[in-house]
Amino acid sequence: NGVVRDLLSKNTDRMTVEEAAKTFDLEQVIDRDISKLSGGELQRLSVAATLMKDADVYFFDEPSSYLDIYQRVKVARLIKELSIEKEVVVIEHDLALLDFLADNVNVVYGSEGAYGVFTMARQVRTAINVYLDGYLPEENIRFRDRPVEFTDSPPRADINTVSLVKFDALEKDFGGFKLNVEPGAVKIGETVGIVGPNATGKTTFVKILAGEIEADSGKLDTKLKVAYKPQYISPEFDGTVRDLLYSSSFEMMESGFFQTEVLEPLAIKYLLDKKVKNLSGGELQRVAITQCLAQEADIYLLDEPSAYLDSNQRVNAAKTIKRMMMKSGKSGMIVDHDMYFLDMVSDSMMVFGGEPGHHGIGQGPFDMREGMNRFLKAVDITFRRDAESHRPRINKPDSRLDREQKGKGEYYYA
Ligand SMILES: Nc1ncnc2c1ncn2[C@@H]1O[C@H](COP(=O)(O)OP(=O)(O)O)[C@@H](O)[C@H]1O
Ligand SMILES: [Mg+2]
Repeated sequence: NGVVRDLLSKNTDRMTVEEAAKTFDLEQVIDRDISKLSGGELQRLSVAATLMKDADVYFFDEPSSYLDIYQRVKVARLIKELSIEKEVVVIEHDLALLDFLADNVNVVYGSEGAYGVFTMARQVRTAINVYLDGYLPEENIRFRDRPVEFTDSPPRADINTVSLVKFDALEKDFGGFKLNVEPGAVKIGETVGIVGPNATGKTTFVKILAGEIEADSGKLDTKLKVAYKPQYISPEFDGTVRDLLYSSSFEMMESGFFQTEVLEPLAIKYLLDKKVKNLSGGELQRVAITQCLAQEADIYLLDEPSAYLDSNQRVNAAKTIKRMMMKSGKSGMIVDHDMYFLDMVSDSMMVFGGEPGHHGIGQGPFDMREGMNRFLKAVDITFRRDAESHRPRINKPDSRLDREQKGKGEYYYA
């Protein structure tokens, strides 16, 4: 009940209402009813209200959900600052973020809906490496068959492959919002990651490619067969997951390849007899990814597939999408905000920017180094690679490495 200003005014121990509204980008909605906020606005409001209080211990339960990558980094920076003087506990699925903001991590393992076990606190680097490895040595527990591997050098775009689709400069004007996408091409077998702040037209671009909406100007190859997973999935289907998947893709569902490569890692087996209408957000997401990958298409468009998934499911989904594209020689375009997900899934990168809500500009695809560099520069963070797991780690702001890499313009790899 009430408007944003009311909640922010309740506790101003550590920040004034004006400061909080500015810091959390809530100025535009300060007099709006809380029940009318978007997911991202509501998340920023709750984090703000928590940070404004003076307390001994602070708890943040999944603070990155609904936030774009820029807002995630900003919130992570604020929580990290808070943790210098206070005790802070954070539950989080975005591993790059967790790695950045935590000192110690308790890995929790278990079985969905059955039990959960908290393990001892480990130093953050060790905890995440152990987690990616899928094996907890002290507990002697394996919770994933395959370790997650990152490459220690940027993938090289294969210059010999031909383009699957080329697009001219695209333009779409909604009245209040205008999108301009610079000309680009997607190669056969290439998976393109798409990053950018919210409301810069990523979804609009993907919808144009999917043929859901038409660009005002700019041509597209329309003979292309497209499979599309929308950002917002609504469970309208009246029947079970089995009915849904078998009615659209009987042959794929029956093939051994699809079973090992998709159904198994996404744990679809456990969902087959559930009603689509009764699925949780994460279950629905897994089904939607499966339904998209089960279609015969030239290009697979997935808009925010990591939303509602936990970190283990994200890792599994990223690997699944990547393997499907590689083994079938198909192309993909994936919009996401999770940096590990993007790093695992992408061969190249499109970067969206501009002025959120007013004017979006899409550029690329660039090779990973160029694309990541552009994007990381915009969020003002640098990555190094972990010596053991090769996973990207956010450098401490203003550390020696951070300054060195910024100086060289190498934000992605040292
Ligand atoms: N059909 C539409 N009519 C008017 N405005 C729209 C429409 N679809 C999207 N927009 C606006 O266009 C902007 C970009 O939206 P979207 O493509 O969903 O961005 P993103 O996926 O990057 O968050 C937003 O400000 C949104 O409100
Ligand atoms: Mg979107």
